[in-house]
Amino acid sequence: MNPTRRQTLRLLGLGAVGAVTAGASGCSLIGSTPQPRLLRSTAPLPAPFTVALPSPETARPSRTDGSADYYDLTARRADVEILPGLRTGIWGYGGSFPGPTIQARSGRRTVVRLFNGLGEPTVMHLHGGRTPPESDGYPTDLVRPGTRRDYDFPLEQRAATLWYHDHRMDHTGSQVWRGLAGFFLVRDAEEEALPLPSGERDIPLMICDRSFAEDGSMPYPAATDRPGAREAFMGGVLGDVILVNGAPWPQLRVARARYRFRLLNGSNARPYELALAPGGTIVRIGGDGGLLTAPQGTRQVRLAPGERADVIVDFSAYRIGDQIELRNLAGDGPQAKVMRFAVDRDARDDSAIPRTLSTVERLDPAGAKTVRDFEFTSGGMHGGTGWLINGKPFDPGRADARPRLGDTEIWRLTSDVAHPVHLHLAHFQVLSVNGERPAGPPEWKDTVELREAQTVEIITRFTGYRGRYVMHCHNLEHEDMAMMSTFEVV
Ligand code: C2O
Ligand code: CU
Ligand code: CU
Repeated sequence: MNPTRRQTLRLLGLGAVGAVTAGASGCSLIGSTPQPRLLRSTAPLPAPFTVALPSPETARPSRTDGSADYYDLTARRADVEILPGLRTGIWGYGGSFPGPTIQARSGRRTVVRLFNGLGEPTVMHLHGGRTPPESDGYPTDLVRPGTRRDYDFPLEQRAATLWYHDHRMDHTGSQVWRGLAGFFLVRDAEEEALPLPSGERDIPLMICDRSFAEDGSMPYPAATDRPGAREAFMGGVLGDVILVNGAPWPQLRVARARYRFRLLNGSNARPYELALAPGGTIVRIGGDGGLLTAPQGTRQVRLAPGERADVIVDFSAYRIGDQIELRNLAGDGPQAKVMRFAVDRDARDDSAIPRTLSTVERLDPAGAKTVRDFEFTSGGMHGGTGWLINGKPFDPGRADARPRLGDTEIWRLTSDVAHPVHLHLAHFQVLSVNGERPAGPPEWKDTVELREAQTVEIITRFTGYRGRYVMHCHNLEHEDMAMMSTFEVV
């Protein structure tokens, strides 16, 4: 445990009561567990659907050879326009938020040389990547200001929507909030053989919430010098502006055709329940770990922080002139709005949604060598309050599980309040939620939302690499306040 963390914990212990009596609404540290809390903007906010949806630029490799594509990426500060007419200082990969989209292929190495042009250390992690430990972005593998590090991704994995983001111990929440996140798309031949919408109709959408001060800046509670700010938000920081690809409540003009949207919840702490208004079907074709076995038509897609959903929306069901909103049924007022699609033209559409998308092996619980229990709770630690797994705060010096390479294990995860739990390296399948087996065929995931007071059993096989990885809560404030555990594949 480093001094920064110790100071934080002490602060949490001393500052907690003050923060509550100072009027932290919906967040009592006495007698109940803190919930995520809304940080209000003081900047003038635009009317919804007045800004066009941006699409993050595609990263260009600086060189490629027979074995790999090489990218140079600089994490740096930049001033960008997020709210019309105001400048916002961000920390971004390539100076943009979201960072450039990296387009990669299954089985082809991608090497990202990250240069740290920030004034603070950073760590980069490829979320959903099956990555050797030295390139996985262990939270203490710091890239110090002015230095660089090569992240080497073999990408021995199926096509999926991945994302890369900051992972610095104790600071991930603030550094992702400032903008350090981008898409990383893995494609493969199996998926390309399907007639799914592609090209301009294959659109990644990073959904995240932020708040803005009058001058356009995006303050983060931990970084303010107001005493008690960080502990008041220990349940999670919620923004009041919903951004899609970095733009507030944007609009996208669409043709009467099928579109594939790769939805990512890149928020620190906000879950979304996405639905179309006035109504319509969303066809889910993929999740965190790539294609499902078959398409699933639904009215609603729930995404906890870190989760992804690949969906198809068929706008030929609408007329030219129709405006369809993507709503967030889990939010209120402005946070119930996400973006809008404006149908403005006819178009030829050769795409289709095949009845069969892929095959997913069902992991058999009978083959599990070990069952482990992990309890996600808040609690006191070292004289402060934080978020714990099995009663312990994260300590990079300690491994809490040592699964053997090749072994199948069942992990039983239990929550107090909601915790989106994410495993590095090992994609898993959900076996049961509160004892009930989920309906339908299995799907590969890397993040699962534990709702309040739930037990979720997951099953995974530890293949790929030996070494040190983490499991953690993807509510980034929980993660930064120690809700993380190391497992070592041996
Ligand atoms: Cu998306 Cu360990 O993180
Ligand atoms: Cu990850
Ligand atoms: Cu949590």
